Amino acid sequence: MSISRRDFIGAGATVAAGLTLGTPAGAQPLVGVVEHSAPVVPPNRPIIVSSANGIRGVAKAYEMIGKGADPLDAAIAGVNIQELDPTDQSVGLGGLPNEEGVVQLDASCMHGPSKRAGAVAAIEGIATPSLVAKAVMDYTDHIMLVGEGAKRFALEMGFKEQNLLTEQSRQDWMRWKRKLNPDDNWIEPPAGDSGATHGASAEKLRYDADGVPYTYGTINMCAVDAKGDIGSVTTTSGLSWKIPGRVGDSPIIGAGQYCDNEIGAAGSTGRGEANIKVCGAFLAVEFMRQGMSPEQALIRVMQRVIAMTEPRLLDERGRPYFDLNYYAVTKDGRYAGAAAYEGSSFAVADAKGARLESCVYLYKRSERPTKRPISGTMVKP
Ligand code: GLY
Repeated sequence: MSISRRDFIGAGATVAAGLTLGTPAGAQPLVGVVEHSAPVVPPNRPIIVSSANGIRGVAKAYEMIGKGADPLDAAIAGVNIQELDPTDQSVGLGGLPNEEGVVQLDASCMHGPSKRAGAVAAIEGIATPSLVAKAVMDYTDHIMLVGEGAKRFALEMGFKEQNLLTEQSRQDWMRWKRKLNPDDNWIEPPAGDSGATHGASAEKLRYDADGVPYTYGTINMCAVDAKGDIGSVTTTSGLSWKIPGRVGDSPIIGAGQYCDNEIGAAGSTGRGEANIKVCGAFLAVEFMRQGMSPEQALIRVMQRVIAMTEPRLLDERGRPYFDLNYYAVTKDGRYAGAAAYEGSSFAVADAKGARLESCVYLYKRSERPTKRPISGTMVKP
């Protein structure tokens, strides 16, 4: 049965699957239907699925796979576009820095056919941590290198060190610092000053109740080639203004991304602290292994996230203050993106071309809590 994605949006996955999940408080009634719940014959592949900022990357990865590239190499080439783009402040060069103004990057990757994985966390000075993660996978018996060790490894492998803090990101960081404490020695910017958050980068930032920008932005990309071999990668500069050394979900195999060549792949962008607790990418792949469609699997992971969220991060109706998105693709080319709130999109490239599609969601955009969103790493006493 093939039913339109439009019919699904609004999170009908659970009822259609006959699951007994319980509905998070305030979520839309689960009245939809499931798209592509049965395997696709013939398979829809090659196919690339990514967070929305990978719209150029999915096209690149699809083209590479068409020319015979390995699915992980293709996915990494796709995310390299964002890592090297100084206007994407969520990854690589130009990523927003930690609270000390230092850009620290996380990435991980998995290669389905060889069942290998690699990751780096809190690495500084290297614009393409996705490629360093792959080098860890290819050239070591380890899975993850962090911090100074990861950087030394990268330099030994021939990666070039560079200053990743662009002028735009430096100004955004300074603006955040000036607003931190009204009693400090920094003078706040004049009223109405959009600070350094103008231009293309501003669209990628969120703003807390004080107008201070922050982002959890990231890029995840999963690729399936014509044979059904799979690769997945996630790369990020992580939470802006984070405590130095903070590591999010992106470099954690099973959280930021996961790939099983028999089943499919999944990945995440958004609040890593929420995703880590449910190992969301692994969980999504496991749900798909149990027979759920990608939509069902991702909505069920999102529900698990909310069930595992502490009350300070939920409104009175149990809706999260934070953003978290998931993406998934099966070995036969079914796919989905999911978000807590209506309005998110994700990128996909297949025989129909590269495009953005709407994520399935749990809550209407109009139901999004207006209270101050999560903007920092400190829990106020
Ligand atoms: N998902 C990116 C992060 O939390 O670092």
